[in-house]
Amino acid sequence: MSEAQTIQWFPGHMTRTKRQIEKSLKMVDIVAEIIDARVPVSSRNPVLDKLIQGKPRIILMNKSDMADSACTSRWIAYYRSRGIKAIALDCKTGKGVNGFMPAIREVLQEQIARWEAKGMVGRPIRVMVVGIPNVGKSSLINKMCRGGNAGKAEVQDRPGVTRQNRWFTIGKGFELLDTPGVLWPKFDDPVVGERLAFTGAVKDDVVDVEHLASRLLEHLRDTYPQAMAQRYKLQGEDLSEQKGYELLELVGRKRGFLISGGEINTERAAITVLDEFRSGKLGKITLENPPQ
Ligand code: G4P
Repeated sequence: MSEAQTIQWFPGHMTRTKRQIEKSLKMVDIVAEIIDARVPVSSRNPVLDKLIQGKPRIILMNKSDMADSACTSRWIAYYRSRGIKAIALDCKTGKGVNGFMPAIREVLQEQIARWEAKGMVGRPIRVMVVGIPNVGKSSLINKMCRGGNAGKAEVQDRPGVTRQNRWFTIGKGFELLDTPGVLWPKFDDPVVGERLAFTGAVKDDVVDVEHLASRLLEHLRDTYPQAMAQRYKLQGEDLSEQKGYELLELVGRKRGFLISGGEINTERAAITVLDEFRSGKLGKITLENPPQ
């Protein structure tokens, strides 16, 4: 778990973050907003829309290796219909990372043509990565800078740029601001908190794992019944009327998680369900669909 997950966000923090992002925005040509493809709504903070104010943007649907690819395609089409370019990424293996720079060129093509018309040929495109904790910002920056995609990472100092704000050359004609913008998750919405907890973006010691796993099972029963039934051998069971906790007990019983007296060890069942969801053993699952 990254350290960022343990950050408590206070109003002062948020104000400072907003100011820092606003300052950094002035130095870049495009914002790369990174979100979790499994929870495309809950893993973004809409405050970014206000902060960006007309700045070109690209959405990176990261962790697409764990998301339902049909849903990811629907999300990409949805963003396209709203005039926003989105691409799927897997920063763990690097899949899709090669498409990052061409996608940025596509978004900025008119801008680049204007620069060229003014004789600014070869002006580097400056990019900033923004996202909530745990979506994969550092993984992306590491992947972009590690060479496989773009050659050797170079850190440069620029006049007027503070030590934290340095630029990595990530490929011919591209520079990446070395520090990503870390937005706070929209925890004031309990649905957001729950969905981020499902993915493990919130530490389990601040949530009730049995309640969380029960809620996840209800969600899976309604959206991915086959994957769930197959994994926990629930075929043939009528799950439609079951409450989340009953589903959890069922999983515990099927797995043989019993304690003395034949009682079901629901805590062990909960930890197993959450682990299996987060490690992709339940299959490729997306918890949020685009609006119709
Ligand atoms: P952050 O900077 O935005 O906070 O996120 P970070 O890159 O630290 O990534 C958070 C966790 O998500 C890391 O796992 C990282 O490996 C994992 N991750 C990032 N991108 C992807 C992806 O596309 N697919 C998958 N499956 N995982 C991804 P961790 O458990 O905290 O560490 P570790 O497993 O790397 O040791």
